[in-house]
Amino acid sequence: MTFLFNSDARRGAVFQEIFARELPDLPFSMEPASVDPDAVRYLISWTVPADLPRYRNLEVLFSIGAGVDQFQIDEVPDHVKVVRMVEQGIVRMMQEYVTLAVLALHRNLPAYLGQQRDRVWKALPQLQAPERRIGVLGLGVLGRAVLERLRPFGFPLSGWSRSQHEIEGVTCHAGDAGLAVMLAEADILVCLLPLTDETRGFLDADLFARLPQGAAVVHTGRGPQLDHDALIAALDHGHLSGAVIDVTDPEPLPADHAFWNHPGIMLTPHVASVTQPHSAARAVADNIKRMRAGLDPVGLIDRRRGY
Ligand code: NDP
Ligand code: OXD
Repeated sequence: MTFLFNSDARRGAVFQEIFARELPDLPFSMEPASVDPDAVRYLISWTVPADLPRYRNLEVLFSIGAGVDQFQIDEVPDHVKVVRMVEQGIVRMMQEYVTLAVLALHRNLPAYLGQQRDRVWKALPQLQAPERRIGVLGLGVLGRAVLERLRPFGFPLSGWSRSQHEIEGVTCHAGDAGLAVMLAEADILVCLLPLTDETRGFLDADLFARLPQGAAVVHTGRGPQLDHDALIAALDHGHLSGAVIDVTDPEPLPADHAFWNHPGIMLTPHVASVTQPHSAARAVADNIKRMRAGLDPVGLIDRRRGY
């Protein structure tokens, strides 16, 4: 029984060290070429490796990242559990990034950066936090963590998910009717949805039109959820006031793309959150211990839902 690590060697070295301590009876390999394929029970990877059929006794495919949309899940045999990465490093970084983005938009940073370039010294009208309503699409591990971090600032908070949730201090919505209510009241909309057939192209012209005049968007989900042209049109027509965009389609963004120079857009290269090897290795080791104890792993993917 072997754990095969199929990602970068720097993170692999950390996994190897932590696994030696946490799971000393589980052989660990970073060498697909020299491992006995029949011994591989656990595999961690960013994509589904082309040689997956070699691992006939594979039981669990772990994603090295929080998302699993990069997996061609149809290529993974039905009996193999697919598990996304749920670890505190990703959570903490996403909390930092979304807080940074929300505060930047709340405090008019894009406009002040423009004024700085133009040497304009002028105070702009400033809403107070209780007057700025924040809506989060997706109330999973990351959406909930981000809301928890935003709560002390005093923003009115709401969130939307497929199923109904209850979160202290957050107005929770679900379903189409709930979405309409939340969008109409979201001055800053944060997208933390997984990419599925249902969420592809979700941030489109129709959705932007349902936000209040002057609203802003933070996109940290996945690039294909966002209609780039619709975002630019909504900014250029003044319906939206700004956007912080971490994920695009394609990535990297082509050099001639309109996002680069748009005054209303702050752009980062898919860095909102990055798997941290120490906490990730401990999370995966804990998941293996859970499965050995007959429990489901944390982050088990429901193939029907796609996340
Ligand atoms: P989870 O699976 O924990 O949560 C997903 C949430 O989205 C759930 O609340 C779920 O609803 C909701 N949801 C899914 N589909 C729909 C739908 N069709 N309609 C309404 N709600 C829906 O995921 P995480 O919070 O861990 O991560 C979210 C995403 O963040 C990842 O999939 C990834 O794409 C992105 N990400 C981006 C990073 C970056 O650096 N930019 C880094 C890490 C992650 P319900 O609760 O009812 O199931
Ligand atoms: C992830 C990511 O899914 O980095 O972890 O986007």
